[in-house]
Amino acid sequence: MLDKPVLTIALSKGRILEQTLPLLEFAGLMPVEDVQTTRKLMVDGPDDWAGSKIRFLIIRAADVCTYVEKGAADLGISGRDLLLESKPHVYEPLDLKIGKCRLCVCGPKASVEAGDSAVKSGRIRVATKYDHLTAQHYLKQGIHADVIHLYGSMELAPLVGLADRIVDVVETGNTLKANGLVEETTLFDISSRLIANPASFVTKKKQVQAVITRLREAVEQREKNK
Ligand code: PRP
Repeated sequence: MLDKPVLTIALSKGRILEQTLPLLEFAGLMPVEDVQTTRKLMVDGPDDWAGSKIRFLIIRAADVCTYVEKGAADLGISGRDLLLESKPHVYEPLDLKIGKCRLCVCGPKASVEAGDSAVKSGRIRVATKYDHLTAQHYLKQGIHADVIHLYGSMELAPLVGLADRIVDVVETGNTLKANGLVEETTLFDISSRLIANPASFVTKKKQVQAVITRLREAVEQREKNK
């Protein structure tokens, strides 16, 4: 007898994971181990789900697009921020309506509230991990952004004079507030999306469609119960 096909789903570590699990549970797609505590990076899911074995990859949010684009995962869950920034060649069939936040330009409270654009001689120093989106945003206004790429704790950069502004995701606004920063402009509203490898969309059509359908139902149910 032929082995069942394997359907691989890449999940983002971190804060999105917690919100993803109830959706997977509704869909009957639960990992067999606690993915929030295990040190394993590849975890089995159901052995027979719509005719497939399911397995999960537990990876950094920024890597999900790469695994799905290259076909190492058939499906994945990624923030819209990362999709907009890296523009991977993947399908984006479903808004999971979790991980909701916004991508904003932020700066020191006094400077933003005074309407000080912080642009000096047509240039501005901006700390971010969204290099392309940041450059594009300022370019549209005819401003050259000196993009300073950081990997996290962006809010520190203006405090120590490393940057005039930051472009980062804001959820509750608590981190900004704790560091004396405020939002200047919202660039995009963000939520997490189900993404799919285009080839898997064809070769594993039945299984991929089944995941989309069940997760869509899970999202609808979740929205209804809010
Ligand atoms: C993210 C983001 C902000 C913070 C926003 O950082 O970069 O710093 O969350 O959330 P808030 O508006 O609810 O305070 P994260 O905690 O993921 O860590 P990082 O700074 O290392 O990226």
